[in-house]
Amino acid sequence: MYSKKEEKEILKLSDLLSSKAISKEDYNDLIRVLQYHEWKYYINNSPVISDKNFDDLFKSLQTLESENSDLNRPDSPTQRVSSDLTSDFPSVAHLNPMLSLANSYNGDDLKDFDTQIRKLCNMESATEKIDYFVEPKYDGGSVALVYENDLFIRAATRGNGTQGEEMTANAKVIPSVPLSAAFSKHDIYKAELRGEAVIAKTIFNQNNTQRAKEGLALFANPRNAATGGLRMKDPMESKKRGLEIFIFQLAHATDKDGKDVMPKLKSHSNSILILRDLGFKVAFEKDQLCHGIDDAIKSCQSWETNREQFLYEIDGAVVKVDSFAKQELSGSTQHHPRWAIAFKFKAKQAHTKLLEVEYQVGKTGAITPVAKVEPVHLAGVTVSSISLHNEEFISQKDLRINDTIIIERAGDVIPYVVKSIADRRTGIESPIEFPKHCPSCNYTLEKTSDQATWRCHNPICEAQQLQRMIYHVSKDAMNIDGFGKSYIETFYKKGWLKDLSDIYNLDYKAIALLEGFGVKSATKLEKNITLAKQNPIHRLLNSLSIHHLGRKASKLIAQEISHVLDLRRWTTENFTEIKDIGPIVAENVIAYFMVPENVAILEKMEAHGVNLKQTEQDKPRVINADAPLIGKTILFTGSLQTMSRKVAQAKAETAGAKNISAVSSNLNILVVGEKAGSKLKKAQALGTVEILTEEAFNKLVEG
Ligand code: IVH
Repeated sequence: MYSKKEEKEILKLSDLLSSKAISKEDYNDLIRVLQYHEWKYYINNSPVISDKNFDDLFKSLQTLESENSDLNRPDSPTQRVSSDLTSDFPSVAHLNPMLSLANSYNGDDLKDFDTQIRKLCNMESATEKIDYFVEPKYDGGSVALVYENDLFIRAATRGNGTQGEEMTANAKVIPSVPLSAAFSKHDIYKAELRGEAVIAKTIFNQNNTQRAKEGLALFANPRNAATGGLRMKDPMESKKRGLEIFIFQLAHATDKDGKDVMPKLKSHSNSILILRDLGFKVAFEKDQLCHGIDDAIKSCQSWETNREQFLYEIDGAVVKVDSFAKQELSGSTQHHPRWAIAFKFKAKQAHTKLLEVEYQVGKTGAITPVAKVEPVHLAGVTVSSISLHNEEFISQKDLRINDTIIIERAGDVIPYVVKSIADRRTGIESPIEFPKHCPSCNYTLEKTSDQATWRCHNPICEAQQLQRMIYHVSKDAMNIDGFGKSYIETFYKKGWLKDLSDIYNLDYKAIALLEGFGVKSATKLEKNITLAKQNPIHRLLNSLSIHHLGRKASKLIAQEISHVLDLRRWTTENFTEIKDIGPIVAENVIAYFMVPENVAILEKMEAHGVNLKQTEQDKPRVINADAPLIGKTILFTGSLQTMSRKVAQAKAETAGAKNISAVSSNLNILVVGEKAGSKLKKAQALGTVEILTEEAFNKLVEG
């Protein structure tokens, strides 16, 4: 990137600029010096000036630019932080499709891969080894960066592979993305680079500690924090997350006449070296370029052994044919290149001791056994409790108190008990006795023969009441903004919440006096609770935590009643006459309304101003006969980028379509978001399904 001589020269310049009054003539030098320091800090990991010195130089540059409107280089480091950048994520086409990777799991799979490459490159009988380049498989969000005329001009997410979402403003605040790079040195006028946005594990942990302090939801893993960070509406929020981009591919390089420059660059490793020289963050260590598949296998295994030492979360290694000519010969399928393959690491496992089992009571009375284990570090988090699901799970795995158990994090998110190690038993282990009575209210537990779950059916069980209240205020139910689990628990402990109706009769003056509250937050809470009182009744029905009555059934029932308490008189037939409502829902709703305490709670709610009457939003949607998707069935797959799945489904319904949940010959339209997988393949194989991008869908329904 910089020669020794250049570095010396820039450092001299840096000292000079730090010690004198800056004038217009210094503009280009100042940018050169700051770009160098950014590179030392973010790419080379060896800063050579103090943060304070950097900040002072940076401020001089800001002042200079604000006083001279003609000083406005687009690659000035100030362009990373201008606060008027906004992101609205328009859709853009990638220069080449962004493919995914086929997977391998062991050395034999990689040998098969080598055999296949030899066939494709007509080298079956040759003894010559193939060169492979082995890289870490970063677990983040993929991005494509476009440079033109040595300037960074655009960044986009992967999207559906062909079309991505533009997020240039957010990429500009990522310090490891150079705003300019001397591609012209290599005769390249236009380049598209592929890479992965990631967050260092330490930064991720710091972010979460900070979020915990602020009472914000924690990120499950660095991947979620990174992909979410790319899509923040405010680039300054993106910046806060500490994103970095590792480049793993030069995907397009053309000269001024549009001629392909890639063949001249010869190999992937060479292109990565060039990118490193141009100032990009890449992974390039000496054992990555492997001569023959056996070395590549060793390299993959070494990445796996050392994965914890790597500063970033990785979930595998990627083996790539190094020569561009051989890549060309190998070609690609529609889904993945044939010249590259991912080597997936085994799920992360740990040994620990099962200390005891606690039994949690859910909102509908379900009893869930939770294992308390000796705290153990696993895939970036400390695990101390793990769900054991139900009694059957415990007996199937023959788990005992004091057993040594193997746990793993499936998908690196939820810890899971794989098995107990019987050989490690010493005789002090004892069987796990599932309780016969509710751990909260001592009511006798019941289990129907066709279900795996034990339940407490006491309508006034305290633990259930608390869980119901937590659910009642949540997003899916009454959606009371700012009212979460911790408020419910605080008010409950104070004795202010005995049943659901108390939520609507709180003493806000008393709340304002609580530690950590104050008048402002109490007033805000009052406003949000007052707003929720006007909710449509389908939300209220769903928020009651009636077993088997979910959001969909609540909506269907709300269409048919003028007042919630009408349900006191409903019979099984009334329910089952509604399409898609079966006898089980009927039975549970009827049972709920037969309990006088439940009816009394609803009456108290109404007295406190909660709406119990059918609203316009509850009534069935009237769909015009000329709605664009009338009579069509539709399914959304992959992660949608411009709207939530809920919003997409509502849009489809308003346009006359019916949402269905599986790909079959009944399906008319499949809308594909990011990382669409097996559903897309199945629909393509059927050949009768119309496949739409998210953008095309939006165009269609919005006319
Ligand atoms: S190469 C055409 N290299 O993995 C080549 N991908 O499963 C395709 N990824 O969407 C990608 N680290 O976001 C490549 N060193 C690496 C990678 C990598 C992470 C991601 C990438 C891609 C996904 C494919």
